[in-house]
Amino acid sequence: ALISLRQMLDHAAEFGYGVPAFNVNNLEQMRAIMLAADATDSPVIVQASAGARKYAGAPFLRHLILAAVEEFPHIPVVMHQDHGTSPAICQQSIQLGFSSVMMDGSLRADGKTPADYDYNVDVTRRVVEMAHACGVSVEGELGCLGSLETGAAGEEDGVGADCVLSHDQMLTDPEEAAQFVKATGVDALAIACGTSHGAYKFSRPPTDDILAIDRIKAIHARIPDTHLVMHGSSSVPQDWLAVINQYGGEIPETYGVPIEQIQQGIKFGVRKINIDTDLRLASTGAIRRFMAQHPAEFDPRKYLQESVKAMMEICKDRYQAFGCAGQG
Ligand code: G3H
Ligand code: 13P
Ligand code: NA
Ligand code: ZN
Repeated sequence: ALISLRQMLDHAAEFGYGVPAFNVNNLEQMRAIMLAADATDSPVIVQASAGARKYAGAPFLRHLILAAVEEFPHIPVVMHQDHGTSPAICQQSIQLGFSSVMMDGSLRADGKTPADYDYNVDVTRRVVEMAHACGVSVEGELGCLGSLETGAAGEEDGVGADCVLSHDQMLTDPEEAAQFVKATGVDALAIACGTSHGAYKFSRPPTDDILAIDRIKAIHARIPDTHLVMHGSSSVPQDWLAVINQYGGEIPETYGVPIEQIQQGIKFGVRKINIDTDLRLASTGAIRRFMAQHPAEFDPRKYLQESVKAMMEICKDRYQAFGCAGQG
């Protein structure tokens, strides 16, 4: 059944687990996520980005998610809009039947330039008013995502990759977070704690203090009733990078967020963990390998089935690692 983000994360907070939020663009991702949730008895958050809407179109994404709810009626599903850049975009998603929307007012409507605090409060508060009137949850964001190793912002929907941030900008301030939640009424808050979007988070194997866990702890202590969200949480599996490069890929050395550090975050209030890149890597590796090993094969279902299997394994691993398995 379709439920709101607030309902799902309240349960996660009560029982101390985190829920991976997977980006969805196509049928194969959708099936992989649902099959893994079914196999591990986990609740599901699927989210559609602006890029996904451009690729598949909002009606297709909506029906893809509704089809999943129909085929797996026993699994709770949150249909979430990822990184909305304006109240108008969020309003469209609410009208389409999304049960949760993100208003990312940490960036201006161009999706690139860091926005000031007052702008963020203004747009986010407007979305909360609309959404709550319809029983829809809202995620806001405060702070700029950026790698504490490199200072790079990463790819926020493919833009801003060249923006270099100061150490201060890259960590959400606990006092400001408390003010922001009070002023907007958001259900969940994406915080900056050292992660960044995309495959290129860290250029060296990450140390066990690569995320600002103390900062997460301090924010959670200040706003215990607001569910924290960690964007840019792909772990960038080294085994899939090796497969990709073994079969003709050219991805340079790169590292993601260690699972153990996400687990630390979950101890201190992180309830929604955004993952896109890991599914992209698994899918690409599986398809490259299949194509190389079966050069005469041309039925797309054959290689797409490999993609589904590979993504399903990642989803299962995350459901288990975040304590989500058995909570569906
Ligand atoms: O927020 C970033 C997600 O990975 C979505 O990326 O806009 O390329 O679909 P996308
Ligand atoms: P990754 O690029 O680390 O998978 O993060 C995805 C994300 O935060 C989507 O909003
Ligand atoms: Na941001
Ligand atoms: Zn994100």
